[in-house]
Amino acid sequence: MSKKFIPVNNPVMDGNEKAYVLDCLESSWISSSGKYLDRFEEAFAEFCNVKYAVACSNGTAALHLALLALGLEPGDEVLIPDLTFIATANAVTYCGGTPVFVDIEPETWNIDPELIEGKISSRTKGIIVVHFRGHPADMDPILKVAGRHGLFVIEDAAQSHGAEYKGRMTGSLGNIGTFSFFGNKIVTAGEGGMIVTNDESCAKKMRLLKNQGMENVKRYWHPVVGFNYRLTNVAAAIGLAQLEKIASQIDGRTAVASWYQEYFQKVPGFRWQGDKESSNRVWFLFTLVVEKEIRSIRDGLIPYLLENGIDSRPVYYPLHSLPIFPERSGAQSYPVAEYISERGVNLPTWAGMTREDVVYIGDKIVDYLRR
Ligand SMILES: Cc1ncc(COP(=O)(O)O)c(C=O)c1O
Repeated sequence: MSKKFIPVNNPVMDGNEKAYVLDCLESSWISSSGKYLDRFEEAFAEFCNVKYAVACSNGTAALHLALLALGLEPGDEVLIPDLTFIATANAVTYCGGTPVFVDIEPETWNIDPELIEGKISSRTKGIIVVHFRGHPADMDPILKVAGRHGLFVIEDAAQSHGAEYKGRMTGSLGNIGTFSFFGNKIVTAGEGGMIVTNDESCAKKMRLLKNQGMENVKRYWHPVVGFNYRLTNVAAAIGLAQLEKIASQIDGRTAVASWYQEYFQKVPGFRWQGDKESSNRVWFLFTLVVEKEIRSIRDGLIPYLLENGIDSRPVYYPLHSLPIFPERSGAQSYPVAEYISERGVNLPTWAGMTREDVVYIGDKIVDYLRR
């Protein structure tokens, strides 16, 4: 293996992270209350231009709390894109609901608004859109169809911190928006999540549920069964420091994505996520689609890149094909999700990478395909 190693992601901790965490340690405020939690929630609400932000333990918990606050019950159906991280589907399953898969748009790889209506049944309660890889889903037609059928809309914005749709922050357009602060995200707290909304009653419910269902004013009084989905002050300290410098993280990743595009524009046989004019996207990850790949990306290209010191990841399997949804496999076709899943590879994307790194990665991919 060559000495050079380029990880898929490398969180940059060059702001106030260390000072804020040290402050937590020195003051002993390391658990699930403290000033950094308050400041992080306030700053995040302001960033998204919403009334309420509720911090929680991770992006999956955020989705679970959002669905519970919107009243999802066993037997209900929720429409979600066929190509997303499993957490989007799992949160529906945790509530006893059924995720119903919708294929994605060929250009943006987001849930295809034109296919939504055909998937609505008498049991459908809502839609979870995922702003895939940082590209906003086409919210206007989605909100319109949801309004016509009385459905809620949750935005899974785990990958889209700072992305805008028609001048509004992703996460702020539906009933509730959810974010993840896992280590590879544009804003990270190590692990962590945030839920944003303008609905006061939803915000109150989510705060109650995330803290064991315990009433705020009446200690150890539990009107509902809740969860321990709390975030720590230490994680919030890291998250706040990260949020303070989000602009440089977004710019750094955008530069990397533009270098990939510049490189692969010159070589036939590749494509990547397209842009919609209505969107001011961010780049969570640059996913390259290798159109002429005849072997599996997972078996061929990814191990070859690793031998050359380049970490990469396959795209998710389409959800309908997973063993946890046996009844869904083969029942319908999801051609776009299948195509992107089979041929897509997630390449290193983080602020701090250089143009030389990108050219090195590009050269290795081209070498591999020539072999
Ligand atoms: C689209 C999407 N939804 C939800 C999650 C879950 O977030 P977490 O890992 O913080 O639970 C992720 C995390 O990668 C994600 O990418």
